[in-house]
Amino acid sequence: NEKTIIAPSVLSADFSRLGEEVEAVCRAGADWIHLDVMDGHFVPNITFGPPVIKALRDRTDKVFDCHLMIEPPTPYLGAFACAGCDIITVHAEATTHLDRSLQAIRDVGCKAGVSLNPSTPESVIEYVLDRLDLVLLMTVNPGFGGQDFIPAVVDKVRRVRSMIGGRPIHIEIDGGVTPETAPLVAAAGADVLVAGSAVFKGGSEEHYARNIAAIRAA
Ligand code: DX5
Ligand code: ZN
Repeated sequence: NEKTIIAPSVLSADFSRLGEEVEAVCRAGADWIHLDVMDGHFVPNITFGPPVIKALRDRTDKVFDCHLMIEPPTPYLGAFACAGCDIITVHAEATTHLDRSLQAIRDVGCKAGVSLNPSTPESVIEYVLDRLDLVLLMTVNPGFGGQDFIPAVVDKVRRVRSMIGGRPIHIEIDGGVTPETAPLVAAAGADVLVAGSAVFKGGSEEHYARNIAAIRAA
């Protein structure tokens, strides 16, 4: 719907023209830009880090939504903040001291998010709710774009929505979001949808606009 935030993941963009791709997807209707940072250790893939994000920063004023799939994340928070990230999300599974990591994100001036793998129970966020601006629920195992949505997570979305109560915390969904799966998670209480392959398929700005509109309409 109109109020749902769509955050295209540049993981599915053409990396040889990343700046133009970010501009194109912003013109096509993206609300936020989702940046998937992978270290080849927490997840079995390697992407990009602060220098690439910094190079993209002057291409748009949209929110840079940085998803850190790195272990440990805390030593690098300052570098990602300096690169121009607005929201930094760490994985609960990748940090021993989640409360400290979340405080550290706000200390560097960013909004703080926590991400949970599909198998991680929502109870891990129970005592850090007041330190959170966003909860990112993975609907695939992190590491790659283009995987199938795991429907068991829909129930977790509902539970996190009720744990949050009246707090101003976003619930973001990442992995296998398409016009078919988007309504399931939106109905369960998600308000931010990440989509990589479903947005960038087709390879042109016209496709991106049509793809984003299709997710929004769903
Ligand atoms: C997976 C990443 C996702 C991924 C989503 O590890 O965190 O952001 O790019 O890609 P799709 O939408 O293709 O599942
Ligand atoms: Zn992601």
